[in-house]
Amino acid sequence: MTGRIVTVTPNPALDMTWHAERMLVGGSCRVPAATVRAGGKGLNVARVAHQQGARVLALTTAGGATGAQFAAELSMSGVPHALVRVGPATRRSVAIVDDATGDATVLNECGDDPGAVAWRSLVELACDALSDSAVLVVSGSLPSGSPVSLIADLVARAARRGLPAIVDTSGAALTAAAEAGATVLKPNDAELAEATGLSDPVAAARTLLRGGTRLVLASLGGDGMLAVPAHGPVLHCRPPEVLAGNPTGAGDAAVAAASVLLARGETDPAELLRAAVSWSAAAVLEPAAGTISPRHADFINRVTVTPYREENP
Ligand SMILES: Nc1ncnc2c1ncn2[C@@H]1O[C@H](COP(=O)(O)OP(=O)(O)OP(=O)(O)O)[C@@H](O)[C@H]1O
Ligand SMILES: [Mg+2]
Repeated sequence: MTGRIVTVTPNPALDMTWHAERMLVGGSCRVPAATVRAGGKGLNVARVAHQQGARVLALTTAGGATGAQFAAELSMSGVPHALVRVGPATRRSVAIVDDATGDATVLNECGDDPGAVAWRSLVELACDALSDSAVLVVSGSLPSGSPVSLIADLVARAARRGLPAIVDTSGAALTAAAEAGATVLKPNDAELAEATGLSDPVAAARTLLRGGTRLVLASLGGDGMLAVPAHGPVLHCRPPEVLAGNPTGAGDAAVAAASVLLARGETDPAELLRAAVSWSAAAVLEPAAGTISPRHADFINRVTVTPYREENP
């Protein structure tokens, strides 16, 4: 029996993408209408898990005119969700893709803190949802100026119900999630180095385990992923091949895989690692974040999990 996955996205964005035949910095170009999508890391996780047949509920905030567009697109997507209405307008993430070179220029607005009342509503919404769910996922950044205690609060609420929490964030929020003992953390190598000051991902992951976390999945881009468990050997898994494509959102697909397995009651680090690497490689093959290629089913039979040789254990 697979339980429901609840995702919380504290800093959603209206993702707008324009394609230009040739992007002229300092010049002007005529472009077709932008594609507009409800974005944010927790939403990408929910989309992938939903695409793969898991029961999900995506929770986030929406405000202003951009929030209305965000809500409309999310309704169209068919992903079950609930929104807390907030004062500040939902931020925008603007991408301009140069079709001649394939290069994308991206401007990410930081997002405004919606305030204590809005955060309380989001936590209450999550608490209600958790009473009928199996896993909590908290993904992405916090709006600037927001309290990092939000992450610890959500992790603690899941723990009180005996539910695992997966957190994928960075900076002070990642440290807060580790100190709160989130069950699984999914930083990439740069986020590990930034949060701990350590360049060795295994040493950095072990620092994060001190707060009671059971498993750090440290993603290394095309080099795959390390599973650093609180107990047991460090494991490494490479993608079946290094793929050309769109790596944005690959980490979110990894989190989706881990959440689907945890929702089924699977906690073996090797199995979580194998699925995370297969789904994230399959995400690289898709043009937009939030979907994975059906080739994930082939990849999972081709990837191998091996003990990781530490240089200075
Ligand atoms: N070029 C690639 N080919 C195959 N697999 C890849 C490639 N790039 C990334 N992956 C897979 O995706 C996983 C996550 O990638 P990465 O470490 O870049 O995550 P991330 O920085 O958190 O991504 P994001 O935050 O944009 O979702 C990797 O561990 C690997 O398994
Ligand atoms: Mg990431």
